[in-house]
Amino acid sequence: MSFQNLLVQDTDLVRLITINRPDQLNALNKATIQELHEALKAAERASEVRVVILTGSGEKAFVAGADIKEFASFDITQGKQLAAKGQELLFDLIENMSTPVIAAVNGFALGGGLELAMSCHFRIASENARMGLPEVSLGVIPGYGGTQRLARLVGKGKAMELIITAGMIPAEDALRWGLVNYMVPQVDLITTAAKYAAQICKNSPMAIASAIRAVNAGYDKKVDGFVKEIEEFGKCFGTPEFVEGTTAFMEKRKAAF
Ligand code: COA
Repeated sequence: MSFQNLLVQDTDLVRLITINRPDQLNALNKATIQELHEALKAAERASEVRVVILTGSGEKAFVAGADIKEFASFDITQGKQLAAKGQELLFDLIENMSTPVIAAVNGFALGGGLELAMSCHFRIASENARMGLPEVSLGVIPGYGGTQRLARLVGKGKAMELIITAGMIPAEDALRWGLVNYMVPQVDLITTAAKYAAQICKNSPMAIASAIRAVNAGYDKKVDGFVKEIEEFGKCFGTPEFVEGTTAFMEKRKAAF
C-alpha cells in the first residue's frame, strides 16, 4: 500500500504512520484525511499490527490544522459536510479502533492537528510541541470533535479558555493539564512511543479491543458504560486469549498472544 501524503513503516508488531507534508506543516487536506482513513483501516485489518503510532514529518509540526487554503471558500453546506465527513472518516474511526493508536506529537498540534491527537488513545509530546484550537481566530470553531474531546480530557473551564482565546500551550502545560501523558525530548519521541507500544503488545488484543469499547461507552450518551463493561467483560470469557492468559498465569509462564 503506498500513499502520497503518508509514510508507513512496520517494526515488530508496531506500525508507524507519518503524515508527510512537511512544507505545509502536515496540514490535513481532504486527500490526507482519505489516505489516513485507508491506512488506519488497513492497520486494523492486519493481524501483524498490534499498535499504531501516528506522527508528523519533520521537526516542526505534528499537524498544523485542517488545510485552511482548501476550505477558505466553502459555504455553510460545504462547511457542515467537511466536519461531518472528517469526523466519520478519521476522528471517530481512530477513537473507536480496536487497535490502539498512540499520537507522537512532535511539534505544532493546532486545530485539526490537536483534534487528531485527541482522537488517539493517548498522547506523548516532544518538548517543543505546542498545542491549541485556534479556529475562532479564523472565524470558525473546531469541527473535528475538538469542542467535545478537549473538554473531556482537560475539563470544561480549561477547554473553554483554550478555545475562546485561540491560545497555544507549550508541551509542559499540556502535560500538567493531562492533555498529553508524557513529555520527552524530541529525539526520544518515537522510541518512547515504541516503548509503550511494546508494553501494549504483550497483552491480549481481544481484551484491549474490549477495554477500548468499554471506556468509550462511558462517553456515549446513548449507552450505559457500566452495562457495556459487563457485556464486554463477559465476552472475554469466550475468547481463546482468555484461556491462554489464565492458563499461562497458572502454569507460571508468560502468555503468548
Ligand atoms: N493549512 C494550510 N496551510 C498551512 C497550515 C494550515 N492549517 N498551517 C501551515 N500552513 C502552511 C503555510 O501556509 C505555509 O505554506 P506556504 O509556505 O506555502 O505559504 C507553510 O505551511 C509553513 O507555515 P508558516 O506559517 O510559514 O510557518 P510559521 O513557522 O511562520 O508558523 C504556524 C507556524 C503553525 C504558527 C502557522 O503556520 C499557523 O498559524 N498555521 C495555522 C494554524 C491554524 O490556525 N490551524 C487551525 C486550522 S483550522
